[in-house]
Amino acid sequence: MKALILSGGKGTRLRPITHTGAKQLIPVANKPILFYAIEAIRDAGITDIGIIVGDTAEEVRGAVADGKKFGVTITYIQQDKPLGLAHAVLIARDFLKDEPFVMYLGDNLIKSGITNLVEQFKDRSPNSQILLAHVKKPNQFGVAELKDSAVVRLEEKPKKPKSDLALVGVYMFDKHIHTAVRSIKPSKRGELEITDAIQWLIDHKFRVLPHIVTGWWKDTGKLEDMLEANRMMLDLYETDIRGTVDRQSRVEFKVIVEKGAVVKNSIIRGPAAIGRGAKIVNSYIGPFTSISSGTEVINSEIEHSIILENCRIEDVGIKIEDSLVGRGVAVKKLNEKPKVYRLLLGDNSTVGLP
Ligand code: DAU
Repeated sequence: MKALILSGGKGTRLRPITHTGAKQLIPVANKPILFYAIEAIRDAGITDIGIIVGDTAEEVRGAVADGKKFGVTITYIQQDKPLGLAHAVLIARDFLKDEPFVMYLGDNLIKSGITNLVEQFKDRSPNSQILLAHVKKPNQFGVAELKDSAVVRLEEKPKKPKSDLALVGVYMFDKHIHTAVRSIKPSKRGELEITDAIQWLIDHKFRVLPHIVTGWWKDTGKLEDMLEANRMMLDLYETDIRGTVDRQSRVEFKVIVEKGAVVKNSIIRGPAAIGRGAKIVNSYIGPFTSISSGTEVINSEIEHSIILENCRIEDVGIKIEDSLVGRGVAVKKLNEKPKVYRLLLGDNSTVGLP
């Protein structure tokens, strides 16, 4: 069995971070979202993985390389434009051959992994099996209708959903999906939709089974979802201090301080993670915060946020909350007169002022 991870696309809802980087590489609990997908696939016993890459191909290759560090083999498949999830299957034909495979959307996180799904697919041998979850706002997802324990209808982001069962971004297929993706036409939004390809399978009497996730999962396409995913993942870790925490500092509840990180005269209240070589000085890091490697927080307070690598946050008088800060960002209080905001923000940035 093979796996196909989709790590192309545009990530428009997470701009400006995604102007310069892949959304699948934004860290959750200081680990890129994409790595959770690779690990879940490997843990289900699949080691031959194709990754669909788009504009951010170089960055994804830089982070994942040949896959050895995960114990898997990676083949990169370039998609010139994000023409849809079914288009990704279309261009992966040579890699996938006629083998069954799992398709995993690289911006999705599933706490319980996919081992059960893969085992069930092997046992029951349907033509396709799709991961579903009950959700509050089904209109934001692909939605499935079930009858007699089989999937009978799928609709992509319907205005009037016929059920609350959303397609979580993991799908199992046998070779018939290749005929399906060749047979469908682009949707109104101009994409070859995987939901249409699966509907094609259903309409042509192929067997499509559901697999309902009971545990937590998240599509991390938006800021709130990203912060929720970070909360969820941080909560799973136990305290692990490998860096230096001085005697004037307090570390409470579940806190990870990675190698080479320094905490001085500060309070870290977990669940929180401080990355390699990060520096926290005279500061407060509150629950559900991830500080990535090389970032410095000086005389400042941060809570419920993700701060990426090599930032410097200094003398910020008011607590930073519910925030996602990109790489190499500097935030500093100016001790000058007159009092001004001095901003150098990328396109589509968002700033909330007190
Ligand atoms: O998250 C679950 C939802 O994912 C499902 O409920 C929907 O049925 C499914 O269409 C999909 O919807 P999204 O609108 O969230 O898909 P998005 O465009 O965010 O793409 C999902 C992942 O696939 C993301 O990591 C980017 C990647 N991608 C996307 C497209 C359209 C590609 O690699 N190539 C593409 O052409």
